[in-house]
Amino acid sequence: MKLSTIFVQALLVPLALAAAAPKLEKKVSYDGYKVFRISTHHDGAIIKEKLAPFAAVPFNLNTEEHLDVAIPPQDLAAFKALNLETEVLHENLGADIAEEGKFAAYDGPSAQAVPSLNWFNSYHSYADHVTFFSDLQGAFPQNSELITAGTSVQGRSIFGIHLWGSGGKGSKPAVYFHGTVHAREWITAKVVEYIAYNLLVQYSTNATVKTILDKYDFYILPFVNPDGFVYTQTNDRLWRKNRQTRSGSSCVGTDINRNWPYKWELTNGASTNPCAETYKGVAAGDTPENKGLVAFTKSLAAGKGIKLYIDWHSFGQYILLPYGYDCSARAANHARQTTLASGVASRIAQSYGTRFTYGPSCSTLYATTGSSVDYLTDVSKAELAWTIELRPTGSSSSGFILPAAQILPSAIEQWEGMTYLLTTM
Ligand SMILES: *[C@@H]1O[C@H](CO)[C@@H](O)[C@H](O)[C@H]1NC(C)=O
Ligand SMILES: [Zn+2]
Repeated sequence: MKLSTIFVQALLVPLALAAAAPKLEKKVSYDGYKVFRISTHHDGAIIKEKLAPFAAVPFNLNTEEHLDVAIPPQDLAAFKALNLETEVLHENLGADIAEEGKFAAYDGPSAQAVPSLNWFNSYHSYADHVTFFSDLQGAFPQNSELITAGTSVQGRSIFGIHLWGSGGKGSKPAVYFHGTVHAREWITAKVVEYIAYNLLVQYSTNATVKTILDKYDFYILPFVNPDGFVYTQTNDRLWRKNRQTRSGSSCVGTDINRNWPYKWELTNGASTNPCAETYKGVAAGDTPENKGLVAFTKSLAAGKGIKLYIDWHSFGQYILLPYGYDCSARAANHARQTTLASGVASRIAQSYGTRFTYGPSCSTLYATTGSSVDYLTDVSKAELAWTIELRPTGSSSSGFILPAAQILPSAIEQWEGMTYLLTTM
């Protein structure tokens, strides 16, 4: 995609310097960038053409209806002169990132040794997330343990938490969550943390929660792309991919969610350009993160089987069912998946009226090849395998930079949706 290339070229110089002397790599500033949603009227290509002279940063891949894009301060006057049909998503992206980056100090476990709910009032550093999980697990040693699903390019553990109920560890079918495969989608880790937190904290007091945790083993991996997440906090808030380098290219990063070894070879749903945001890698499953995730996923499938898999993303407010690789392919149990997704969307809406659209991934949003959901459906035989794109829709305000005040509402509505699904499926 043309815009991605421009974006990446703007980064080339700092990245090249970084290879020689990592300390020199400067944090990307979005100060003064204004983010617009441009109506495309089914012709995104013509809009992209008009934006080609600008150092613009695109936000979305499906530009059928609209193109969301950050315009740098030096291009704003020329952009305005184009007279496009626009809405403003961020008046000043840099200011909104700075606001979001005011992390509260993690106040650690409360008197009962359970982390405080204050955790969900702000975003946090990667190190604090690691501590949060260790504290949460430590408070419930009878029902949980920390797990790891391999190692990232830069050597970070792809850690997670395993929860179980009265049947004992590993005795029930798996409910399996991935968060933060795309580094900039910060809200996803908070939402899976809230679900893990409630399952553990309410297990002894709430009959519904007890029923759920007694019926399934939960495997929750909040950061399947830990290097990318750290990079969004140290260098570039809008980074998406992992941090893998490739010989022959100075561009960094492979999209782990285009790298799964299933339908990877198809040509319509990922990029072979190492500079693109959806770069699929040189070979199926050739990212270290994917190798670890595949091995871990295989172990769950070979154990009690996978009842439900959810890959948590943002943004757009979608519940996406199989498949990504083909817009007319449907899962064998498609009708049932649709009924369940409809019920989940209704339950989500009950808390704050937030509307989620549901349907097969390719036909609802866009084609993806080498995606986790297709792999989990056909290779791992997960009964349900979904992608959930969290808040916002983008139509009123913000995008990847979701204000901290919306963490808890996002988490609460998803918890409600999940309790519906976990008691109905
Ligand atoms: C138990 O949890 C469920 C799911 O969140 C909730 O709907 C229900 O109201 C809770 N019950 C009690 C007694 O708090
Ligand atoms: Zn994503």
